[in-house]
Amino acid sequence: MTALLDTDLLNSVLGDTIFAGKIQTFSTIDSTNTHAMREAQNGAPHGAVMVAEEQTAGRGRGAHAWHSEPHAGLYASIVVRPSIRPADALWLSLATGLGVQRAVENVTGLVADIRWPNDLLLNGRKFAGILTEMNAEATRVRYAVIGIGMNVNHGAFPPELQETATSLRVELDRTIDRSELLIATLRAMHTEIAALMHPQNFAAATERILDRMEQKSTWVRGKRVVVEEAEGYTGVTAGLNALGFLQVATESGIRTVLSGGVREAKG
Ligand code: BTN
Repeated sequence: MTALLDTDLLNSVLGDTIFAGKIQTFSTIDSTNTHAMREAQNGAPHGAVMVAEEQTAGRGRGAHAWHSEPHAGLYASIVVRPSIRPADALWLSLATGLGVQRAVENVTGLVADIRWPNDLLLNGRKFAGILTEMNAEATRVRYAVIGIGMNVNHGAFPPELQETATSLRVELDRTIDRSELLIATLRAMHTEIAALMHPQNFAAATERILDRMEQKSTWVRGKRVVVEEAEGYTGVTAGLNALGFLQVATESGIRTVLSGGVREAKG
């Protein structure tokens, strides 16, 4: 088992990033996102990070739980205070998916796919997810928390996840140094967050995210999907709109996926 939570090491190795001196580690916690939202409410600064070895109530998108096996995964949440509108929060999620994809490739050589908005997949199975939550006024985000969960050294999954989940260890047939992966992920996030922080560069940064999503995700265009929204519908993905939302071509025209996720349509 590789150690993850050497707080001093993390704070020093990441000394040249926005996270320097702001990383807190926990051996067990309910949810790093829940804790980070609470800390942000109490004034935690931009770049504060909470990492845990175990979550007893890890949360996923929607009302889902996040399976958080102790000492096997990466469970981390980042507090950010960007000058953006609530409608632009999706960019944080898309940028995080791209950042995690890059970090995983750098550390393992594995090139993950991104299922919009930000599930990371290997061989069609999910190994990482991102939960972005925020506290906002109508016109501005006060703070957001970006939660990243990664199945790293999991050897097996509970029955309900066996068909859909994987881990880096399962894919590579070896264990991964979680500390190295956490550092690579936070380095990638330093770059992604910096690009979205400056109002004068925001439009260029989002253009770049749209381009990268087109290149780095097979789900953005030409994939037949079921949209898990309201009554549910089927169509073929047709790119992202200017706000980063997925477009789906259906028999009744182009529809925009607003709140739901997508899964591959069979047959
Ligand atoms: C999803 O794909 O549904 C998102 C999963 C996000 C899980 C991470 S683990 C760290 C952080 N704390 C949580 O409770 N959730 C996120």
